[in-house]
Amino acid sequence: MTLFQSNWSKQLNIKYPIILAPMAGGITTSELVSAVSNAGGLGMIGAGYLNPEQTRQIIREIKERTSNPFGINLFVPEQGEVDEQSIVNAQTCLKKYREELHIQNQQPALSNQNNFKEQIQIVLEEEVPVCTFTFGLPSEQIVKKLKNAGIFIMGTATTVKEAQIIEKLGMDMIVAQGSEAGGHRGTFLEHPNKSLIGLMSLIPQIVDQVNIPVIAAGGIMDERGAFAARCLGAEGVQMGTAFLTCKESGAHEVHKESILNASEDEVVLTSAFSGKKARGINNRFIREMESAERSILPYPYQNTLTKDIRKAAGEQNNPDFMSMWSGQSPRLSKNISAAELIKQVVDGYEVLKERV
Ligand SMILES: Cc1cc2nc3c(=O)[nH]c(=O)nc-3n(C[C@H](O)[C@H](O)[C@H](O)COP(=O)(O)O)c2cc1C
Repeated sequence: MTLFQSNWSKQLNIKYPIILAPMAGGITTSELVSAVSNAGGLGMIGAGYLNPEQTRQIIREIKERTSNPFGINLFVPEQGEVDEQSIVNAQTCLKKYREELHIQNQQPALSNQNNFKEQIQIVLEEEVPVCTFTFGLPSEQIVKKLKNAGIFIMGTATTVKEAQIIEKLGMDMIVAQGSEAGGHRGTFLEHPNKSLIGLMSLIPQIVDQVNIPVIAAGGIMDERGAFAARCLGAEGVQMGTAFLTCKESGAHEVHKESILNASEDEVVLTSAFSGKKARGINNRFIREMESAERSILPYPYQNTLTKDIRKAAGEQNNPDFMSMWSGQSPRLSKNISAAELIKQVVDGYEVLKERV
């Protein structure tokens, strides 16, 4: 049994089925993505918040840095309306934080604008080898277009039903996102609270119900997690938090340090920052917003509304108001290079295999 040979990775010409989790918000820099691909893994851009120009630019930067395959992850846009009163309530609730952070403009514009269509066009034009999706499903037409262009596509599932729909749509692979996972939940069918399945339960149940490869994501930081995922039937791992604290990651230093010093019981689920459930390190903003849950707008509105607060907090190195996404295994995080992390997982896996 070996993790490090898998049909999909052979097909894509990737040495190790270790995927850098796409992490939108500037974490998956071209340095990090290319470092992972150059080390034999699959680097992945978290392009969810990028505009078309930034999307094309990072793809081109990565092409300069590596000739190995890499991928891009897009947020499937969500519809949704909010009424005037809810907006007023949400703004009132956030007012004291804007004042505390000395933010001048107290009424940032709300928008549900997205760049999904343009990003798909760029992925096609730039011939990005792998394209993955979260928060929902692309249309059949988009799936066909990407597949006709020879692009390998993956969807994110948090339940068996979601995995089955991804397979039926014709995607090539499924990322099974366990409830341990850092960042936003990819849930798109049921209420997020009904889709919090631990990875140990999720992988074998998905594997039994689909015929395409399944990648494990959530809490995997080293060879032990990778080995366990393989035992459960996964054909690779997608690691986020473990790469977030690496040298090449673009995460804010305060965010990196917080993870490096955190314990597992400090990591919580919250919708306070974006209106969508996400896992990160507990802080004052999350705690205080818990009692103001009714003033939180749905995604993506809350995300737009708290953008200036998160930005100001970052500029002021203030962890109280930053969204410091993390999975449930922060004690296993290290500040090493991405290549070193991959080497440790690969070497450790072989030792573990012998021992077991
Ligand atoms: C900071 C951060 C940002 C993330 N952003 C994205 C994203 O843009 N797209 C996505 O599909 N998943 C995103 N995720 C979730 C990851 O794909 C993956 O499910 C998760 O990192 C796995 O758990 P782990 O962090 O414990 O390894 C993010 C995770 C983190 C920690």
